[in-house]
Amino acid sequence: MQVGIDAVSFAVPEGYIDLGELAEARGIPPEKYFSGLGVRQMAVAAFHEDPVAMAANAARRLFRQSGASVDEVGLCIVGTETAVDHAKPVAVYLHSLLGLPSTCRVFETKHACFGGTAGILHAIDWIRSGSHRGRSALVVCTDIARYPLQTAGEPTQGAGAVAMLIRERPRLLAIDAARSGSYARDVYDFWRPLARKDALTDGHFSVQCYLEALSGSYQAFRSQPGASDAFDRYCYHVPYGKMARKAHRHLRGLQGLDEAAADAQFEQEVAPSLIFPSLVGNVYTGSLYLAVASLLHHQAARLEGRPIALFSYGSGCVAEFFPATVQPGAGAFAAALQLDQPLTQRTKLSIPAYESIRNADDTNDTRQAPPGMEPWSGQGTDTPSLHDQVVYLGIDTAERRVYKNRTTA
Ligand code: HMG
Repeated sequence: MQVGIDAVSFAVPEGYIDLGELAEARGIPPEKYFSGLGVRQMAVAAFHEDPVAMAANAARRLFRQSGASVDEVGLCIVGTETAVDHAKPVAVYLHSLLGLPSTCRVFETKHACFGGTAGILHAIDWIRSGSHRGRSALVVCTDIARYPLQTAGEPTQGAGAVAMLIRERPRLLAIDAARSGSYARDVYDFWRPLARKDALTDGHFSVQCYLEALSGSYQAFRSQPGASDAFDRYCYHVPYGKMARKAHRHLRGLQGLDEAAADAQFEQEVAPSLIFPSLVGNVYTGSLYLAVASLLHHQAARLEGRPIALFSYGSGCVAEFFPATVQPGAGAFAAALQLDQPLTQRTKLSIPAYESIRNADDTNDTRQAPPGMEPWSGQGTDTPSLHDQVVYLGIDTAERRVYKNRTTA
């Protein structure tokens, strides 16, 4: 039985900055960002675009574009490292904002950027075990990547949510989860202590940890009987584009290619997956899947029936390397999903506008919603039409988060 990603969609903030302008403002040669880090634009989440709102908007777009029904969902997992509550999971907000069935299992997963992959692998096991009883799983990755302003991490931020429907006979990508190679090691390469909104990172060490985890998970994959190395494309976790280039050199090195030969393959084997990430930045749990969406948007038709490799990394750290196969018909279906559409409706922010959003957002979780607003249940007259966006308004007097439906076009 084939199981995997049936449909995918994503939501990004309306605002983004041009990283050439950020480099200029920081007195850094733009080439360092463009070719040194392989980044161009960075999404900036405004107050109303919290992880719940982005997740809801990505998932609503998923159902709208794919034709799937929320009634078929029996499992909803949200992977995030930008939780909005210590107890109440983003997944249960989604449950009401989307109108998922009351018989649905919902929960949130965390292990840095690996949380979404944990959700997908669990969803696949849930289907293969028979627990799904014919139903599908919704897995949503949602995050806001934040480092302190004017640090080396600043150009590697981003924000966004990626929603995926996991089911039998998937229309896009079958995932061979049984062959996944896993790796884990306790390291302090990137962390976010409870009282902080910005992540802390030992940046250069994190690059080493990522590469070691790639070796470890790849070798675990290869050690299984019948594991084949013949991949047409490679999708990596993408904290910034250059990391994927380093990863590809490293992996192809393990396969016996020298650096020049690996670089020569890069344009064909990896670059199509980096187009969306270079316009959005690091979306943490969703980064690998934004890369997958980019690959499918640009090349699904020519890759039908072909094997690709996926590498997921979560700082701290854990990693998995697993094979997948692009499904027959994926080209036409990916075109119908109009995956690039969220990137065509954005507004460029000035650097001062970005800084003022960032300087204000320590108070995002404690700001009061306008008086008279009740937490939105997703029911009744405020139920969104298909063209509306979910927005976060603040908290009420009992510190419950308040969401509203805002009509866009
Ligand atoms: P940095 O201090 O900017 O590093 O930090 P650098 O000075 O070494 O420069 C970076 C590259 O730019 C170098 O190339 C320079 O040579 C080049 P490389 O040696 O890497 O090939 N460069 C130039 N190129 C062209 N023209 C120039 C020029 N100047 C220099 N004029 C770092 C970079 C990534 C460490 C920093 O941005 C950072 O700390 N980012 C956050 C951490 C991160 O993204 N780590 C990635 C691996 S860990 C991970 O992926 C997990 C994560 O997603 C979190 C999670 O799991 O939840 C982060």
